Amino acid sequence: MKKYNVCMVGIGAVGTEIVRLLRKRNFPMAKLTAFATRERMELIDGKPVEVKVATGPESFNGYDFAFFAGTEGAKGASKTLGWGAAETGCTVVDNGDDFRMDPRVPLCIPEINPEALKNHHNFIANPNCSTAIALMPLYALHREAKIKRIVCCTYQAVSGSGAAAIRELEEQTRAWAAGGPIPEPKVYPAQIAFNVIAQIGSESKDMPGYTSEEAKLGRETQKILNDASIQVVSTCVRVPVFNGHSEALHVEFHTPLTPERAREILSQTQGVQVVDDLARSIFPTPLRATGEYDAFVGRIRRDPTVPNGLSLFVAGDNIWKGAAQNAIQIAEKMIEMGLK
Ligand SMILES: NC(=O)c1ccc[n+]([C@@H]2O[C@H](COP(=O)([O-])OP(=O)(O)OC[C@H]3O[C@@H](n4cnc5c(N)ncnc54)[C@H](OP(=O)(O)O)[C@@H]3O)[C@@H](O)[C@H]2O)c1
Repeated sequence: MKKYNVCMVGIGAVGTEIVRLLRKRNFPMAKLTAFATRERMELIDGKPVEVKVATGPESFNGYDFAFFAGTEGAKGASKTLGWGAAETGCTVVDNGDDFRMDPRVPLCIPEINPEALKNHHNFIANPNCSTAIALMPLYALHREAKIKRIVCCTYQAVSGSGAAAIRELEEQTRAWAAGGPIPEPKVYPAQIAFNVIAQIGSESKDMPGYTSEEAKLGRETQKILNDASIQVVSTCVRVPVFNGHSEALHVEFHTPLTPERAREILSQTQGVQVVDDLARSIFPTPLRATGEYDAFVGRIRRDPTVPNGLSLFVAGDNIWKGAAQNAIQIAEKMIEMGLK
């Protein structure tokens, strides 16, 4: 079997899990290197990973895949290095938001729209974590009854904001438990321990009054499901959970769909596990979903306030299916489809 030279750009919360999952999934790797802001040796699960600094496109010569998990924006790794890397023949799989809506760039969840990969220009985008987790159950229901509108409320873990945010929740919680003063927040606009924060990202330019995270959920859903008519409205909230995003989804379909039929479809959907027995207090939780490949769905019930409405609750590992795992699945799917 062919083996591929792989590099990471960024070795924080997502980058570390990419390395872990490449090993766990036996990705056919000949070589693995990481790029970050300074040279060093990182130990991941006791095994060394060499970390270098990328200076330009030449740093990517000889690599088959580059998983980008650096910071976003004008000075971020994807904008400064991404397309240069792609031009060397290396396929970039980008975890950030910079190019997700770029018409040249497929936005892919391999279980849902693998065909999008055929039109790649060596640059593929990984969706936002909340989008990926919500769409795992929703795509199968969309195929059955066509989604008209989604109302989504998220409960997002701090790991979604990176390694510094995980430390912030830990430090605040430890300080509280020790009876000392809680340190001032640095990552979030308010204390995250024992609190919830109804702002993820900055105010959206396209959707005044909404945040950038809320805007992403709508436009990425339309691009991945290839249906611009789907309406999405959301409130994205950060909660004091270390890992695992949860989402309450209220969905209106074009045609009737009973909870029983939805449960039947979802129990046969790749990448989804149904965990749904209210009488026995069985429902998805972020702790249950952490360290799992699948999205967990439950609380499936009729929404009596709209025609053809269903409500459900989903939880998934935002660092795995919401980022690292989906990025690796994209590379695996490209190999399977003979695109690499
Ligand atoms: N966390 C999630 O759930 C999640 C989900 C979906 C998408 N994403 C996206 O994935 C990306 C990474 O997120 P994260 O949570 O892993 O962040 P993080 O924990 O803050 O780590 C960022 C990493 O990027 C490196 N870096 C920053 N600027 C760089 C540059 N110009 N060149 C090379 N490396 C650079 C940093 O290097 P040093 O180690 O040297 O400081 C660090 O290793 C972001 O775009 C984020 O939006 C995250």
